Amino acid sequence: MKIAVVGAGIVGLTTAAGFADLGHQVYCSDTDGDKIERIENGVLPYLEPGLAELVKRGQEGGRLAFGVGASTAIGEAEIVILAVGTPATDDGEILLAQLWEAADMLWPRADGMRRLIAVKSTVPVGTAERLEARIRARLPAEGGVDVVSVPEFLREGFAVRDFFEPSRVVIGSATHEAAELMDRLYRRLSATVVHTDRRSAELAKLASNAALAIKISYANEMAALSEQTGADYPDIARILGLDPRIGPHFLGAGLGFGGSCLPKDTRALVRLASEAGAPQTVASAAIRANAVLPQRMARKLEAALSGLSRRRVALLGLAFKPGTADLREAPSLRLIAELKKRYPGISLAAYDPAVDIAMKRQLPAGVGLYGSAEEALRGADAAIVVTEWPEIRKISAEDYKSWMSRPIILDGRNCLDAHALNAQGMVCIGVGRLPAAPQGIPAYQGRHA
Ligand code: UDX
Repeated sequence: MKIAVVGAGIVGLTTAAGFADLGHQVYCSDTDGDKIERIENGVLPYLEPGLAELVKRGQEGGRLAFGVGASTAIGEAEIVILAVGTPATDDGEILLAQLWEAADMLWPRADGMRRLIAVKSTVPVGTAERLEARIRARLPAEGGVDVVSVPEFLREGFAVRDFFEPSRVVIGSATHEAAELMDRLYRRLSATVVHTDRRSAELAKLASNAALAIKISYANEMAALSEQTGADYPDIARILGLDPRIGPHFLGAGLGFGGSCLPKDTRALVRLASEAGAPQTVASAAIRANAVLPQRMARKLEAALSGLSRRRVALLGLAFKPGTADLREAPSLRLIAELKKRYPGISLAAYDPAVDIAMKRQLPAGVGLYGSAEEALRGADAAIVVTEWPEIRKISAEDYKSWMSRPIILDGRNCLDAHALNAQGMVCIGVGRLPAAPQGIPAYQGRHA
């Protein structure tokens, strides 16, 4: 099939390169000429394992081409996939300017051919219908267009894997022909395909991300309750997760959810729901529960450093999760803002394996960005583990002790072995965890642990 993908972000580029790899002829366009040039030269603007190789394979096989803006290649495509950005305001309004712009550049000259447009961008319910009406108004009667909703569920850092092994493919369509054509497109993936109407597909995307956000916020509130009642949240999470009705994923407590999707989509769902007169009180509470986590961490820091006037704090990790350089809505940024508000004189020294000096302007002023964990930790009175990068998890007690002024670690992702570190003379405080077992008494691991 001939496919065009509009938008070369992580979703668009992975979709384009993925379908090219499945044997389709794909043209991928973006309005950002610099981005397209970098991609064509093999320098991807984002960190996404396996994607550069996939793009290269598509280019070398002659199945993947790139361009800027409108093109005849888009005009010739049987299916045009829209994967443009749909940012949202702080109160959850999804902004569709890029989507309308992309739609308006399609087929300035009508040729009587019937078209299929698949919307992959996350959009409010009813957008596919509005888009179809808008394009129909510009096409002659003999042409015609079908708009389908094909929401994307891939995760950053796993985009390529999630493209080839999706948890599900959702096809929201209004006609049999459109549903069949989309089926053909996805036939080469052995995925569970759910056919539904367009509104359900659009809502399913928001509902899905909000469900993940709710699960994480539940975990964080349960961790706070564990701390208050002297229980151990990681054990509780394990016990919860062994119930297949609850499941083990997304029960990790810490600094909360960030990134370009979970916060934005949950806010969008809440706004849409209130406009529709069916308030989503649970999703709304999940947003509030997520927002207080930096304050909770700041209070822990205060307790750990009480009485200390000079405060140098190392932040280990800045990206919203490991495996990406993405700082969008990263918990680190909210934490930095909270710490600077509380302690105007605080000195913050940050390190993230994927966030380099070129990204410094994305950080609030006054945060030192270092090229190694050692540099960030040197002379620090405390360190906060913000992102659970493997190389951060590997830092040894010896290194912490020799680099830092005081070996105090606040493990904001529960990713360190607190008992082992504490046994080596450190103070390691997790989230929702019991204080360390007294030295010399190993923590009881249980018969089945
Ligand atoms: C998410 C969805 O998982 C994906 O299906 C959708 O298409 C896009 O949004 P992504 O934004 O890449 O993907 O990140 P994800 O891996 O879901 O993590 C989101 C945030 O939740 C991260 O900040 C992560 O640290 C946090 N998280 C995740 C927790 O705090 N606890 C957990 O147990 C899991």
